[in-house]
Amino acid sequence: MRLEIDVFSSSISFNEQDVRNKTVVVVDVLRACSTMQTALENGAAGIIPLAENDDAGRYTRYLDAGSVLLCGEKDGKKVEGYQLGNSPLEFTREVVSGKTILLKTSNGTRAITRSSSAARVLVGSFLNLSAVVDMLKSDNDGDILLICSGWNSRLSIEDMLCAGAITHRLFDRKLPDDAADGVKVAFGFYEKFGAEIPALLRECNHAKRLRELGYEEDIDYCGRVDLFASVPRMHEGVLSIR
Ligand code: MLT
Repeated sequence: MRLEIDVFSSSISFNEQDVRNKTVVVVDVLRACSTMQTALENGAAGIIPLAENDDAGRYTRYLDAGSVLLCGEKDGKKVEGYQLGNSPLEFTREVVSGKTILLKTSNGTRAITRSSSAARVLVGSFLNLSAVVDMLKSDNDGDILLICSGWNSRLSIEDMLCAGAITHRLFDRKLPDDAADGVKVAFGFYEKFGAEIPALLRECNHAKRLRELGYEEDIDYCGRVDLFASVPRMHEGVLSIR
């Protein structure tokens, strides 16, 4: 089947109409999507991505019940008063198993909550690259949008590289002549740098920020390809892999 696919470059580079009735894959390699994937693989019951203007305080009664963890970052740093930040390595089985995660991040959760009019919303990263591609290939029945979350409305090369890897595999390494501009850029970028994922991740803008904050390990972890074989998917406001 012919896939209609495009790539957007930041969490605010699209509007409701762009995503309506489409399959959206939100990509945030560093780090929101890698964190969500890790938390769910480690047994989290589900993840509720919070919108920009969402008041986390309204979830306090669930927090008191002990079944919910409030997590997230601002400028990469754990938000004061939250239980966890946004480092995937914090989301261990011991900490998250059976818990529902409320997650608020600068760009990743924003891209997800802004996609609510899509037919379905999937979460992609290098950690589940092949699983995303397989799912898109096997059961896609409409247009696909790969949304690179970026950083504060700017493009992030780690997200573009991951979107490029998805397009490269979806089109079996052959760029169609009529591909959208976004696909051409992502595909071409991956063709040039796809063999250097770890190095490219270490040099990107956000890696510098994370290193300064002491999150060096996250950078290498998020560059691991196909560590997991599931795809987090949104259902009634909750992301899960079941
Ligand atoms: C985001 O949503 O922009 C990121 O995940 C930021 C981060 O690395 O914590």
